[in-house]
Amino acid sequence: MAATRSFVVKIWRQAGPQAQGGFATYCLDGLSPDMSFLEMLDVLNERLIKEGREPLAFDHDCREGICGMCGAVVNGEPHGPLARTTLCQLHLRHFADGQELVIEPLRARAFPVIKDLVVDRSALDRIIQAGGYVSVSTGGAPDANTIPVPATRAEQALDAAQCIGCGACVAACPNGAAMLFTGAKITHLALLPQGRPERARRVLDLVRAMEEEGFGGCSNEQLCVQACPKGIPVRVIARLNREFLRAALVSEEGL
Ligand code: FES
Repeated sequence: MAATRSFVVKIWRQAGPQAQGGFATYCLDGLSPDMSFLEMLDVLNERLIKEGREPLAFDHDCREGICGMCGAVVNGEPHGPLARTTLCQLHLRHFADGQELVIEPLRARAFPVIKDLVVDRSALDRIIQAGGYVSVSTGGAPDANTIPVPATRAEQALDAAQCIGCGACVAACPNGAAMLFTGAKITHLALLPQGRPERARRVLDLVRAMEEEGFGGCSNEQLCVQACPKGIPVRVIARLNREFLRAALVSEEGL
């Protein structure tokens, strides 16, 4: 049987949006290295509930790396130290026995803390609501290849469509920018025929929403790319900038 893991875990506790937060320290031992990070937090919560103390609030849903709900900063890195891995898919075997783990919420100006590790990421939803979709009726599912799309274009669109909207890119960015997220949404629709009729309006509306929500600007640090659990490439930001410039030139309404 694999050796168990013990950790000293320092976790951000904050009772509510206006409450003063701070780190609480817990010693956890007897953990299986095959446990996921979230299962470790489940163990902590079972203990806290048994002791009559307030359990830790943290976001999660699918626990399979597909929904984008989970997320926290572990030892300074959003979703922890493993590349292309969401927090729910991070396992304890990747940490040394006895290691100190410092766990904080995904912090950004546009992500206010609701409680403990839970932050309000609805600003990302409002960017999508501003136009990150196709509003034309596309009818029923057409036969495959009815609309020819070059393979490289389809692959780039699908790469961008992998974004799960977790917000790790925003938390990793020193400016709190949402350029990788917004660039992914712009890219995957702008590259496909169904998204092209609205591409100019879309990029203007999404960039405006991004600014109104308080996200910062990109200064090309590329920490967002390192933090992204889905490997969204930095070229989506370049495409966002190109689409924005093009839209500004062709839009009848201007900026
Ligand atoms: S809980 Fe769904 S991606 Fe982690």
